[in-house]
Amino acid sequence: MINLGLMSRASLPWWKQTTVYQIYPRSFADDNGDGIGDLAGVIARLDYLKWLGIETIWISPFFKSPQADFGYAISDHFEVAPEYGSLEDCRRLIDAVHAHGMKIVLDMVLNHTSNQHPWFLESKQSRHSPRRDFYIWRDGRKPHGAAPPNNWKSMLGGSGWHYDPATEQWYWASFLPFQPDLNYRNPQVKQAMLDMVRHWLRQGADGLRLDIFNAIHKDAGFADNPFSFRPIPSEHNPDGFFQRAVNTQNHPDTLAFARELRAVVDEFQHPPRFLVGEVFGPTSVLREYCGPLGEGLNLVFLFKSLSAKFTAPGFRDLMQEFETAFPEPLHPTYVFGNHDRPRSIERLGNDRARARLLAAFQLTVRGVPFVYYGDELGLPHHEGMALHSALDPVAARYRFLPKFLLPTLRKRGILVNRDECRSPMPWHGGAHAGFAPPGAPSPWLPLHPQSAILHVEGQRQDPDSLLACYRRMLLLRRASPALSGGSLQLCEPLGDPR
Ligand code: GLC
Repeated sequence: MINLGLMSRASLPWWKQTTVYQIYPRSFADDNGDGIGDLAGVIARLDYLKWLGIETIWISPFFKSPQADFGYAISDHFEVAPEYGSLEDCRRLIDAVHAHGMKIVLDMVLNHTSNQHPWFLESKQSRHSPRRDFYIWRDGRKPHGAAPPNNWKSMLGGSGWHYDPATEQWYWASFLPFQPDLNYRNPQVKQAMLDMVRHWLRQGADGLRLDIFNAIHKDAGFADNPFSFRPIPSEHNPDGFFQRAVNTQNHPDTLAFARELRAVVDEFQHPPRFLVGEVFGPTSVLREYCGPLGEGLNLVFLFKSLSAKFTAPGFRDLMQEFETAFPEPLHPTYVFGNHDRPRSIERLGNDRARARLLAAFQLTVRGVPFVYYGDELGLPHHEGMALHSALDPVAARYRFLPKFLLPTLRKRGILVNRDECRSPMPWHGGAHAGFAPPGAPSPWLPLHPQSAILHVEGQRQDPDSLLACYRRMLLLRRASPALSGGSLQLCEPLGDPR
C-alpha cells in the first residue's frame, strides 16, 4: 500500500482527516463513585486522550433513559440521565473538549424512542390520541392479537410487531420491543427530530453518529418481505431470519432522508459539522447513503472490516473494496470494534504483536479510524459471562442459545452478550482499577481480570507497550499530511501469500 501525500491538510475538511475515539460513558470513568461512569469522569480523562493524540471523541448516548438498552432507548432527548450527570456537566464536557483542541460527536438515536418517552405513552393511550401517528400502529391480519399486520421481522429476529391489547393494534419496533420506531412519514415527527438535531448542533456538537439509520423508513404500503434462504443477517447483508429485508431496511426514502438531514447539518458551518451513519448493507448500498457527490451522510461505518480476514491479503481486499466504492470526494471509515462487537484483539488470538499491526494499519490507511475505548490497551474480550445473568437486553433475548454456538458467532463479528465488550476502563493498579474512586460500590460490570496488568498507568510508563504504539502512530498520523489527508494507491502484490 502507498499512501501518497498529494493533498495538504488544508484541502480536506477536518472530519475527513480526524481520528475518532469511542467512549461508552457507562464504562469509561466514574467520578461520583456510584459504580457507573459519568460525564464528569470523561472530563477528568480528557488530558489522557489529548496526550494519546486523539482528535475527536464520540460519546454513546447519555440522554435521559430508563437504561433498558443503556442509552439507546431515550425518554427525553433534551435531558441528561441523572447517573451520567446534568445538563451543566454536558455543557462543561463540550467546552472542555473544545478547550483541549478536540471535537465531540454525539450519538443520535433517531429511529426509535424508549416506550417510556411521553410521546409513546400518549400515543398508546388511545387510537385517537393526537400523538397516535407519531409511531407505527397497524391492525393485525386477524382480530384480538391473533396475527400481526405482516411478516416483518425485527433486526434481532422474531416479529417486530407488538400487540397492545388495550387499543387492539400492533406497534412496530425494528430492534427490541421497548424501542418503538418513530413514524417519519408524519411531518410533525420529522420536524421535531430535526429540531432536536439542530438543538445539539447549537450546543456545540461537531458531529453526530446516527443509530440504526438504515431502519428509518419502511415500505409505506406495509408489503410483506419476500422469502430468503438466509438464516442470519450480517453487517453487509441485512437479509436474514428467512426473509429479504427490502421493505424494512435501506428503503429509498431513507436515502432521501440522509440528504435532508445533511442539509440541516450544513446549516452549521463554523466549524463545519458531520454525520456518520450506522447502516448495514452491501458496500454499494452504504455508498448510496453518502450520495454520488458526497451530498448525503458525510461518513458511514463500513462494518465489513469487523468480519474481514485479519491477514495481509484480507486487509488488501478490504482496502481495495473501500477505495473502489469511496473515492474522493467520498471517504471510507475503518472500524475494528465498538460497544456491540467482539473486542478486536480477540479476533487476533489475543496476540499483542498483531494488535500493533492492526493499529499501524488502521491509523495509516486512507479513511477515518474509529478506535473503541480500551483497544489502545489491548483490553481483551471478557469471555464467559453467563447469558442468563447478562445486563445486556440482547443477551436476555438469546439466553436460550446453546453455549457452543457463541464462539462461532463471535468469530463472525456477532456478539450475543454485549456486556463482554463493555468492561470498565482500567486506569491504574489500585482500587477498582481507577475506574471508580476507592470506596465506591463494585462497577456496574465486572472489571476484566487482566485490568490489573493492562491499565493505562502501567502502559504509559512502558515505551514498548501497545498504548505507546498507539500514541506514536497517532502522533505520526497527525504530523504527516500524507497519512491524514493523502490519497492511496494499491501496488500489485509481489507474490500471493494466501
Ligand atoms: C445500535 C446500537 C446498539 C443499540 C441498537 C438499538 O446498533 O449500536 O447498541 O442496542 O442500535 O438502538
